[in-house]
Amino acid sequence: MQALDIRPTTAADLPAITEIYEQAVRYGTATFELIPPDLAEMTRRFGVLTDGGFPYFTAAVEGRVVGYAYAGAYRPRPAYRFTVENSVYLEPATHRRGIGLRLLQRLIAECEARGYRQMIAVIGDSANAGSIGVHRKCGFQMIGTHPDVGFKFGRWLDTVMMQRALGDGGTTLPAA
Ligand SMILES: CC(C)(COP(=O)(O)OP(=O)(O)OC[C@H]1O[C@@H](n2cnc3c(N)ncnc32)[C@H](O)[C@@H]1OP(=O)(O)O)[C@@H](O)C(=O)NCCC(=O)NCCS
Repeated sequence: MQALDIRPTTAADLPAITEIYEQAVRYGTATFELIPPDLAEMTRRFGVLTDGGFPYFTAAVEGRVVGYAYAGAYRPRPAYRFTVENSVYLEPATHRRGIGLRLLQRLIAECEARGYRQMIAVIGDSANAGSIGVHRKCGFQMIGTHPDVGFKFGRWLDTVMMQRALGDGGTTLPAA
């Protein structure tokens, strides 16, 4: 494969990231959003995540942005503060070349370095073999399926919950 670079996302990457996500919203079932957020909204979300201390990474091949991954709060209530939920999206032409795996591995390592203890994937559509497969390869365990909780493109959609411990997971107490 041509040189793949995984690096912290900057504002300059957000137009390409907005386009990648727009395709996922319009044509895919991984996300349950129905209206693609515009660049201003993606910029606002990026700011909320990075200001909140969460990592956000860009994958670029030969300088062109082809994917991204980030972690965010799993749920807002404070006892969940050591648990993150992850997201990873690639442009369709670059699927199955190991880029999603590299992005997710980098995100996991960074979340461990920042002291988070659990990562949860809420995968849209139980037919999403790519997402289930890449999470399994990164050590996520299958937790279960919420059947028929989404409705998109005229059909009911499941969510699949997967989870991976980060660092010591629940075997030691956090520092603070
Ligand atoms: C899910 C996604 C990020 C995976 O990234 P990717 O670069 O295509 O996956 P990789 O090439 O890194 O695959 C890594 C491993 O995952 C598994 N995998 C990936 N795609 C798969 C598929 N379609 N079917 C089964 N297993 C798959 C395999 O174990 C694979 O390893 P292998 O190629 O050595 O067999 C990508 O397909 C994507 O962006 N999909 C659309 C958006 C999406 O579903 N995002 C996840 C939201 S929760």
